[in-house]
Amino acid sequence: MKKNKKLKNRDLNVIWHPCTQMKDHEKLPLIPIKKAYGVYLEDFEGNRYIDAISSWWVNLFGHTNSYINSKIKEQLDELEHVILAGFTHEGIIRLSERLVKLTPKNLTKCFYADNGSSAIEVALKMSFHANLNDGKNKPLFVSLKNSYHGETIGALSVGDVELYKQTYEPLLIKSIQSDVPKDMSENSAIEAAKKFEELCQKRHSEISAIILEPLIQGAGYMHMYHPLFLRLIREICNRYNIHMIADEVMVGFGRSGEMFACESTGISPDFLVLSKGLTGGYLPLSVVLTSDEIYMKFYCDYNQHKAFLHSHSYTGNALACAAANATLDIFENQNIIEKNKTTAKYMAKKLEVFKNLANVKSIRQTGMICVIELDGYTPEQRIGLKIYQFALKKGVFLRPLGHVIYFMPPYIITNDELDLIFNVTYEAIKHLEE
Ligand SMILES: Cc1ncc(COP(=O)(O)O)c(C=O)c1O
Repeated sequence: MKKNKKLKNRDLNVIWHPCTQMKDHEKLPLIPIKKAYGVYLEDFEGNRYIDAISSWWVNLFGHTNSYINSKIKEQLDELEHVILAGFTHEGIIRLSERLVKLTPKNLTKCFYADNGSSAIEVALKMSFHANLNDGKNKPLFVSLKNSYHGETIGALSVGDVELYKQTYEPLLIKSIQSDVPKDMSENSAIEAAKKFEELCQKRHSEISAIILEPLIQGAGYMHMYHPLFLRLIREICNRYNIHMIADEVMVGFGRSGEMFACESTGISPDFLVLSKGLTGGYLPLSVVLTSDEIYMKFYCDYNQHKAFLHSHSYTGNALACAAANATLDIFENQNIIEKNKTTAKYMAKKLEVFKNLANVKSIRQTGMICVIELDGYTPEQRIGLKIYQFALKKGVFLRPLGHVIYFMPPYIITNDELDLIFNVTYEAIKHLEE
């Protein structure tokens, strides 16, 4: 039996995969990956696939990047991990200093966790608790319609994608979903912000924070909106004393076109949540940056109710920090944000041809994310799965969100590789019409 097949059988005997209806694998082949390099994933039969979605949006500078590899290897012989309570290490200090420098200037303190959802839980708890320490009980969170913030119970509560949330509704904490701008225009930004303001007028005394994904709602079908919305929300939060939590787990580290999406309007959130690209896609790590003002609400003589006693075992893992520092070195030394602007322009040009296809409803782009939204299909048709299967046969790994195809490649992708991705996708969409 071929190695691919053998591994598939062994896997399906013992592994329950994420975000997967396992019965699908009775027909849908699972793909064991032997190795990966640059934008390519390679299986045991030598087939290679361009990772057009950066392995769930995490990879920035390619797989097995030689520089990041070398920095992790160096770290491995020195210190692999140490508890972060009562101890610290040089890598995490350096990383925190750099993050504080790179992010909006009121963000001065870093609190670490080890994945995006956990960091969302940290931000929600910190916001609520900071108010409590101030003598205010504000148990309500606002998020945007169609948002996604992760899948732990708190994060799921403030999300709004039915597919992930509905089943667990009885378990969730209190939250309200306010309008997201319906498109990328300034007018729709103004309209949606008005709705949030109306809500604040009525209930501001209960609301701890609004949490949002700046500029692009990822798992919410890559919905995009105008940066003006962020500025308006910031102003409303200031007027009503409500925290603003910016979830840049997906859009952070250059995806939006700027290093951080908040930069597009120069606003500072009270909490900035980062993960995914933080380690270049190598190791789990996440961080919540916040202000001295918030930090000082917890800073007092020991009182178990006032301290923020949240912890995860692998918080601030030294190997993950080495990967994160190496990732920031690459940003610093290779002018990545400027280079990405050139790549994004090339992607914009390639996207144009999709406008003319009959089954395309819209195309859109923000920075290094391009979207082709199809029209006229029902969820039961599982159109995304068909596109996935077609593209895979041609050497491209796509993972559409239902009828929404998107590209979010590693930043090192070349024009030739982009040509292949776009051409294969064009063929795949045409093929649906046949
Ligand atoms: C905007 C956003 N927030 C939070 C998360 C959750 O991150 P994780 O999957 O690491 O828990 C995600 C994951 O896709 C995300 O896109």
